[in-house]
Amino acid sequence: MTDHLFSSLSIRETTVRNRVMVSPMCQYSCDRDGLATDWHEVHLGSRATGGAGVVMTEATAVEPRGRITPNDLGIWSDDHADALAPVAEFVSERGATPAIQLAHAGRKASKTRPWEGSEPLAPDEGGWETLAPSAVPYPYEDGEAETRKMTREDIEDLKDDFVAAAERALDAGFEIAEVHAAHGYLLHEFLSPVTNRREDEYGGDFEGRTRLLREVVAAVREVWPGDRPVFVRVSASDWLPDRESWTVEDTERLAPLLADAGADLVDVSSGGTHPDQQIPQTGPNYQVRYAERVGEATEALVGAVGGITEAEQADALIRNDRADLAIVGREHLRDPYFALHAAEKLDADEVEWPIQYSRAAK
Ligand code: FNR
Repeated sequence: MTDHLFSSLSIRETTVRNRVMVSPMCQYSCDRDGLATDWHEVHLGSRATGGAGVVMTEATAVEPRGRITPNDLGIWSDDHADALAPVAEFVSERGATPAIQLAHAGRKASKTRPWEGSEPLAPDEGGWETLAPSAVPYPYEDGEAETRKMTREDIEDLKDDFVAAAERALDAGFEIAEVHAAHGYLLHEFLSPVTNRREDEYGGDFEGRTRLLREVVAAVREVWPGDRPVFVRVSASDWLPDRESWTVEDTERLAPLLADAGADLVDVSSGGTHPDQQIPQTGPNYQVRYAERVGEATEALVGAVGGITEAEQADALIRNDRADLAIVGREHLRDPYFALHAAEKLDADEVEWPIQYSRAAK
């Protein structure tokens, strides 16, 4: 039988109730030190109540310098895991699969929130020194911002931070761990020759530039239980055709290596390395063709994200075997009940509105 949007998906021993995932989206809503607040519980809990199959946290920093803004989530201590535990518990109680995106913002860290202009934060304003594969600052090399080239010790520390973060995420009750290697943040910075100018074994050719990500995924896989899924989010391309950069062909080559390292699903996004990027299109399904290409290159499952807003559109992605998960971002900000509304539109009987809301049934 053909799979559709409301078919369940089994990955290892985890069964996701349908193919809708809430894309990771920063909420910039921590009051202090990366600890989850009521906002995170209500925001993510509402989307679980809204019927999504996977509910993923925003980029959650594996160490304090890995936050984009001082208001981002973190998971670098047991207190952080304790603060996230009620979020994971509520999402699970609502029948969704709780997932966490483990992240480090690299050279794009230490900023004000988008609605404050995403400006670089000076140390006396609560900012911090950013880290990168090479001392190539964001956004422009000749700009005023600075970033520090990571030492070998920093690289070892980073791997340890990802492992400790995964262990804490597990304690907090998450079932899926996603490694964030997209959008020009630290792990993507290692992949791209635009940002990685290293001459040691973590730079240079494709093998060198992909080494850190492969090692991080393998290390997370090692501590993440064998019955639970690991996802990796990648940017399929830097969209910088005028210079040597990360390309779709590189992603096709990387995807099977990520599967070998233990990734069960590749979540295919794009861009974020440099403001000169030329994204070919930004309309409906704008990145789906890259998810398809990645899907053809690897045995791993693929998630498509970007411009997915309609029930029929998401359903078609699954029915036509273009992706295994339909990952919905901004539409979930507009409509926490996207999945339930989609089920109504598609006449799917696999999903029911919460009993608490039954008096509003049509
Ligand atoms: C994002 N996005 C994002 N991506 C990611 O991997 N980690 C993150 O924390 C965030 N944060 C974030 C915040 C906000 C407010 C938005 C709108 C987006 C990108 C997001 O997950 C998604 O990939 C894009 O928004 C494209 O999908 P849609 O919105 O077209 O469905």
